[in-house]
Amino acid sequence: QRNEYKAQYNILDEAAIFYQDQLKTHAHRDQAVAYLKSRGLTGQIAKIFGVGYAPPGWDNLLKKIGGTPTNLELLEKSGMLIRHEEKDSLYDRFRERIIFPIRDMRGRVIAFGGRVLGDDKPKYLNSPETDTFHKSRELYGLYEARKLSQKLERIIIVEGYMDVISLAQFGITYAVATLGTATTTQHLERLFKTVPEIIFCFDGDNAGRKAAERALETTLPVIKDGQEARFLFLPEGEDPDTLVRSESKQGFEKHLDEALPLSEFFFRSLAEDTDMTTMDGQARFSNKALPLIHQMQTSLLQQMMLDRICKVTGLSLEQINSTINLTQSTPE
Ligand code: CTP
Ligand code: MN
Ligand code: MN
Ligand code: MN
Ligand code: MN
Repeated sequence: QRNEYKAQYNILDEAAIFYQDQLKTHAHRDQAVAYLKSRGLTGQIAKIFGVGYAPPGWDNLLKKIGGTPTNLELLEKSGMLIRHEEKDSLYDRFRERIIFPIRDMRGRVIAFGGRVLGDDKPKYLNSPETDTFHKSRELYGLYEARKLSQKLERIIIVEGYMDVISLAQFGITYAVATLGTATTTQHLERLFKTVPEIIFCFDGDNAGRKAAERALETTLPVIKDGQEARFLFLPEGEDPDTLVRSESKQGFEKHLDEALPLSEFFFRSLAEDTDMTTMDGQARFSNKALPLIHQMQTSLLQQMMLDRICKVTGLSLEQINSTINLTQSTPE
């Protein structure tokens, strides 16, 4: 079984080399290069991330690498070829797109993302889940971040490929992206094994703010003493790519330094739409907050957040604890 995966890694590596090669040699390469330039990327950073080009056509990869039945099977298994059920034939998944190879922590190519060169839809296309690619575990850019930084002290979680690459281009070489999924417990555990501090930095739009709220709920049960999570909210309409391009490394890092600590974001978002000057508002607030705080690891942070509820409500810790025990079916 290990051999079978080895062949799959090898063929994905070959595919990555093919796409990178097309960016250098294909007759339409000018379009792709012009697009990357228009996004402000240098050849150097494109090379570090292995950016490539899938040319137009239904069978470029198929013809180049799918020469044997074994290779065809491997390419289909790894999501690079799609089977047309009626015709019972195979065709390339990635066509006429900028290609971003997705690497695992060991640097092996495990999947790809592809972006159209213009405004067509869908803008991004990703490899499907396979035996070797699990979106809930993998983080785009983690391998590169570890390679580019002497010592990682913090990691930024952003939404997209272009955010990661743009940040790196401006010298912020410690960003990673989830791959079209929400941040999972597995992502966080992996990151906290690497660094003590995570900063979430999603797009300044409704989807980005929703993602931050979900990330908060996923982080609460995971975070331990000695670890820190913070949230950076970007101005409306900005994403990390656009912001770092207008403000450069220093400007962006200033935003990072001012990111909201988890507890602040927690209390702020729960107090939203609640009148904290009334007893009813305070009770509503506490009823939302307590079950979430209860999910946290036993930690100083948890204690301090409980303290905060005491201050807000004027209740004692004993009163609050007995409320938790009453509302919790299985007390710990
Ligand atoms: N994404 C995806 N599938 C889509 C749209 C987005 O998988 N149909 C993922 C991609 O990983 C993408 C990220 O979500 O990089 C961010 O999406 P979005 O914010 O919409 O990308 P933009 O910033 O608009 O992309 P770009 O800057 O390249 O125009
Ligand atoms: Mn977005
Ligand atoms: Mn968008
Ligand atoms: Mn963008
Ligand atoms: Mn974006």
